[in-house]
Amino acid sequence: MPSNARKKFPDATRSRAARPALLLDWYDRHRRRLPWRAAAGERPDPYRVWLSEIMLQQTGVKTVGPYFEKFLARWPDVASLGRASLDDVLRMWAGLGYYSRARNLHACAVAVWRDHGGVFPDTEEGLRALPGIGPYTASAIAAIAFERRTMPVDGNIERVVSRLYAVEEELPKAKPRIQALAATLLADANAGHATSRAGDSAQALMDLGSSICTPKKPACSLCPLNEDCAARARGDQENFPRKAPKKPGALRRGAAFVVTRGAELLVRSRPEKGLLGGMTEVPGSDWLAGQEDRAALKQAPALAGATRWHRKAGVVTHVFTHFPLELVVYTARVPATTKAPKGMRWVPIATLSQEALPNVMRKAIAHGLGE
Ligand code: ADE
Repeated sequence: MPSNARKKFPDATRSRAARPALLLDWYDRHRRRLPWRAAAGERPDPYRVWLSEIMLQQTGVKTVGPYFEKFLARWPDVASLGRASLDDVLRMWAGLGYYSRARNLHACAVAVWRDHGGVFPDTEEGLRALPGIGPYTASAIAAIAFERRTMPVDGNIERVVSRLYAVEEELPKAKPRIQALAATLLADANAGHATSRAGDSAQALMDLGSSICTPKKPACSLCPLNEDCAARARGDQENFPRKAPKKPGALRRGAAFVVTRGAELLVRSRPEKGLLGGMTEVPGSDWLAGQEDRAALKQAPALAGATRWHRKAGVVTHVFTHFPLELVVYTARVPATTKAPKGMRWVPIATLSQEALPNVMRKAIAHGLGE
């Protein structure tokens, strides 16, 4: 067995005490090379760690990579980002979505630069007081950048831990228990390492969850903790984590208005906060349970001149996490001189793919523009 960790625990390979070391040993050999990660043995730069964690809040590793590099090339430290204009930051963020993150990123850089002398606080509590940093992100930065003994639990880690311990309780109720069990995978600071290596333990679990302990068909034979995994012993790994069945929300209804001016389409941006925050949409009515078509039509955009609305046959349906939605689609063609109402803009239909259009809007537009 090549693992040093296994040698360290000759009689207790299967013991819980061996897990943190087995995990770190695996990480030392298989860690992903990610642009924000310090090389093995090097001190991580808190600015890089923070920047990456904000970007990774709602976005995958592959998408974040190029954005992280662009930001770092333009603003190599927190002081330069704090001095940048919010507009420049938003422009650089364009395409990553959830734009409130970019606003908070800038506000946080300003706070660290102005109020903390350009030095990030090194505790979870201190980090949580900054804009855009919630409990998960504070824990991740504290562990990775400052070796604080804390385990940030994301979806990947939730899956690994719930399998390892065959946690029967359903999510989201199981969260506190999973958090407590995840913390037992942190190495003891005195177990032969100079530091607790808390950041490496967290990143090891993240990597394990994304590459081996995957939602479907986990590659258990490659897992450093496989001998000791309760779900694997029972052969039902894929059924963890247990999840409470989702209660379907009440059907909401609304209208979408597909207005064309020649080869252009009328669009607007959704509010920064809330569902599909900051994304592009065609104007629409409120989405309400029991909404009627006529009431929805009253919320059509106010365009100069008499607008003739055509109701398209059929409806567009979309299922969000919390509710299903049914949209009726009204179309109108307006003269070339028609101005966009306040807060809206015309965009060429040919370049719609460059807009941050959520799927529900793609469907509504396709329905409205279709014959
Ligand atoms: N997701 C969130 N934080 C991450 C990190 N530091 N490495 C990989 N994936 C992550």
